[in-house]
Amino acid sequence: MKKDYALKMDHNDPIGFAKNHFFVPQRKDTKVTYLCGNSLGLQHKDIKVYIEEELKSWKKNAVDGHFIGNRPWIDYQEEVKSMLSKLLGSSQKEIAVMNSLSVNLHLLMISFYRPDKVRFKILMEKNAFSSDRYVVISHLKSRNLSYEDTIIEVSPRDNEDSLRTEDIINTIEKNNDNISLVLLPGIQYYTGQLFDIEKITEECHRNKIIVGFDLAHAIGNVELNLSKWGVDFASWCSYKYLNSGPGGISGIYVNNKFHRDFSFPRYQGWWGNKIETRFQMNKNIDPSISSEAWVMSNPPILMLASHLASLNVFNKIGFPKILEKGKLLTQYLGESLESLSSYGSIFKIITPSNRGSQLSLFFHINGKKIFNKLMDRGFIVDYREPNVVRVTPVPLYNSFMDVYNFVTNLEEII
Ligand SMILES: Cc1ncc(COP(=O)(O)O)c(C=O)c1O
Repeated sequence: MKKDYALKMDHNDPIGFAKNHFFVPQRKDTKVTYLCGNSLGLQHKDIKVYIEEELKSWKKNAVDGHFIGNRPWIDYQEEVKSMLSKLLGSSQKEIAVMNSLSVNLHLLMISFYRPDKVRFKILMEKNAFSSDRYVVISHLKSRNLSYEDTIIEVSPRDNEDSLRTEDIINTIEKNNDNISLVLLPGIQYYTGQLFDIEKITEECHRNKIIVGFDLAHAIGNVELNLSKWGVDFASWCSYKYLNSGPGGISGIYVNNKFHRDFSFPRYQGWWGNKIETRFQMNKNIDPSISSEAWVMSNPPILMLASHLASLNVFNKIGFPKILEKGKLLTQYLGESLESLSSYGSIFKIITPSNRGSQLSLFFHINGKKIFNKLMDRGFIVDYREPNVVRVTPVPLYNSFMDVYNFVTNLEEII
């Protein structure tokens, strides 16, 4: 392993200063190395400042805080959306900040899964994240559809770990008359595979199929161009790579082309009404001509404050610089792991080269034991049955020496 390389890269790291602004978990007698941003991002020191600002406004201004103060609550989300638009590659109008991810997937399914007698099938992954499956199954039940007749599952080929784009495309083509919706992740939570969102979207549209993505593991982790790619809808969470705090607020992206289509079934609330007429409390809703039409309730400002603080870190540093370091960090991790003598016999990387920061290590034996030993030594990673340890160096708060130390400790443990 190249320690010199790690030292040199840290020394010359243009965004290395950023990690000093995050709180790394502390243990009494062990130095902690946090490599688990795929699950929950670390807390930035500005979070407290932003939340305290709104607590002060609430204390001082009470209800007037909606209209006065440094950031009036009535349109607090606009600044958040402006920053999110750079990470999603979309217009501000295509974004709404609301709820949590599973809830948003339900709301998007209500609008975008509109089966008829011929077109009623849903294509998704066999190994989809549990919550996504539960969401989809709920919608099948509410429409009296069976899983077997409705869901088309795609999965990696035998003896392969990730899905081939060509297999997804071929499955769409084979079933093109019957598929109503394709619902896939941007990045697969278990393997870390980045899907070819552009190609899949193009294929869906050629076949008049609606396509949506769960971007939980993609946002803030890889470059996205949702508008350019023409993706129909997406949702994400903000507590992983966006570091907005446990259970942090989620958001939706709905392509512009749907904003003037009022034929959609949509669960509505007063906050989806245009701001100009919202407080007239009319009998019928006058929906926003934007993704805001999907918003139901007034937003939780304290959550937005923490979201804004963490997005501002991306904004100040610039996403391209973060991505550039992220690629080098994960490449260093991958190459260092592959250089170990135990590579191949004891474990292998199942993450393909299309990926974000996460690498998933599959242990042929003793995965859980090795994971526990890593944790004892202060390396916080996570474990997913059966036998996968997910390791994620995050460019905002991890260094090349973090990666070096992780790999040398793993080698010792093995
Ligand atoms: C891929 C994916 N989808 C959905 C969820 C569920 O998110 P939430 O609990 O915010 O609804 C998660 C949570 O980690 C996830 O990783």
